[in-house]
Amino acid sequence: IPVDAFDLVIFGATGDLANRKIFPGLFRRFLAGQMPDEARLIGAARTEQSREEFQTQIRAAIKEFVAPAKQDATQIDAFIERLHYVSIDARGEAGWSELKSLIRPEVINAFYFSVAPALFGDLAERLKTHGIAGNDARIVVEKPFGRDLASARKLNAALAEHFEEHQIYRIDHYLGKETVQNLMAVRFANILFEPIWNSQYIDHVQITVAETVGVGGRGSYYDKSGAMRDMVQNHLMQLLCMIAMEPPYHFDPNAVRDEKLKVIRALQPVPPQDIVRGQYLGWHRDDQEKPMPGYLEDSEDPNSKTESYIAMKVHIANWRWKNTPFYLRTGKRLRARTSEIAITFKEPPHSIFDEAEGSWQPNQLVIRLQPNEGMNLKMMIKEPGPGGMRLKQVPLDMSFAQALGEEGTDMPDAYERLIMDVIRGNQTLFMRGDEVEAAWAWTDPIIQGWEERGDTPSPYDSGTTGPDDALMLMHRDGRRWRHIK
Ligand code: BG6
Repeated sequence: IPVDAFDLVIFGATGDLANRKIFPGLFRRFLAGQMPDEARLIGAARTEQSREEFQTQIRAAIKEFVAPAKQDATQIDAFIERLHYVSIDARGEAGWSELKSLIRPEVINAFYFSVAPALFGDLAERLKTHGIAGNDARIVVEKPFGRDLASARKLNAALAEHFEEHQIYRIDHYLGKETVQNLMAVRFANILFEPIWNSQYIDHVQITVAETVGVGGRGSYYDKSGAMRDMVQNHLMQLLCMIAMEPPYHFDPNAVRDEKLKVIRALQPVPPQDIVRGQYLGWHRDDQEKPMPGYLEDSEDPNSKTESYIAMKVHIANWRWKNTPFYLRTGKRLRARTSEIAITFKEPPHSIFDEAEGSWQPNQLVIRLQPNEGMNLKMMIKEPGPGGMRLKQVPLDMSFAQALGEEGTDMPDAYERLIMDVIRGNQTLFMRGDEVEAAWAWTDPIIQGWEERGDTPSPYDSGTTGPDDALMLMHRDGRRWRHIK
């Protein structure tokens, strides 16, 4: 759907996210014909540079981060023409009147704060005091949205001084992923699953976000954060909400976010024995050309107690989920990059196949978020042959790329979609202020517990599935993690 004319200002335009995701994403939307001719993209940052220098920077970013098949020289030139640049001081007055002269009040105005959260309040205030952002302007803010409930409240309050909630778009890029949105389609556009989507039929849910990357290069941010703040409080929480929430009455921003909020509020406190934290080790083998630094080297604090891995068992205290645990795990430097949700169903109430004793395995619905996006429903069928009624588990496997053809292989990146949603004025895939606060309210006591007890994470080898204690978290409940591969 084409969008109306807009001016989009990206604060932090020289930063990593802008170069890696925001501008390449905007270029791909441009190629898709979604950017009206009058759209203006304005980079703003502290760096003193000319418009031409900024355009050269973005050319290089497109070259590096956009697929070679999409590098059409004429299109790149046309896109670059839309770029403007203002050198600006977030905490001073330099650059603001120049910015104002570039903004056209008659078109949609959006301001993307791709900067440290400490600057959110300053930017919001200056946009208002300089008369740049009107009552319809939209602002986009990135995570981390605070590091605990108190700081998130402060950020919300600082933004609320100048903007209304309907103008604020808090990004959790997981919500922009095609397959994450597909979770809602699978649940609410099919009659098949919803009747059994509860603790009467579901034994447990596993949510895994495994990464192969370490924290090298961003150790100073990550060390103050850890897997709980960096991944669980936001991305895994959103995935959990998509699986656990009640059907919203409509696919509408507040209806969806109301239901997610109810889930977050129903999350039970997690006792220490239901959480395993880990920290990756590196290796320095002689035969290895490049040694692999361990977490403590990446973070540069040899005594750091920050976790790069976390596994936990979570309960949701409501009618639907009473007694169905959700097991969450996420970690860096694991064996493979895999994100998936696995829903394991209960046994049939009675077995009629005596001969099949012992061969029964539970139905499992696995939703692969990345890579190889798709769904796999594991079912029992009869093993072929005359040897009686022997049973066997087989996959009913669908890869979205195969099922959807070209459409399924060229899916928009999360940022592309989310930025266009801002321009369209659709907040469904953005977090509301109360949702973020509720997530911190659940996370805070867990982190405080570690700090008070001085807990240290268990070491695990890079390239594995995480610390062994995480296996126990499942085994003691008679369950098993799915293999990370
Ligand atoms: C970011 C985290 O929000 O998400 C990173 O800060 C993490 O630590 C990243 O690597 C994962 O995103 P994706 O899209 O690669 O799964």
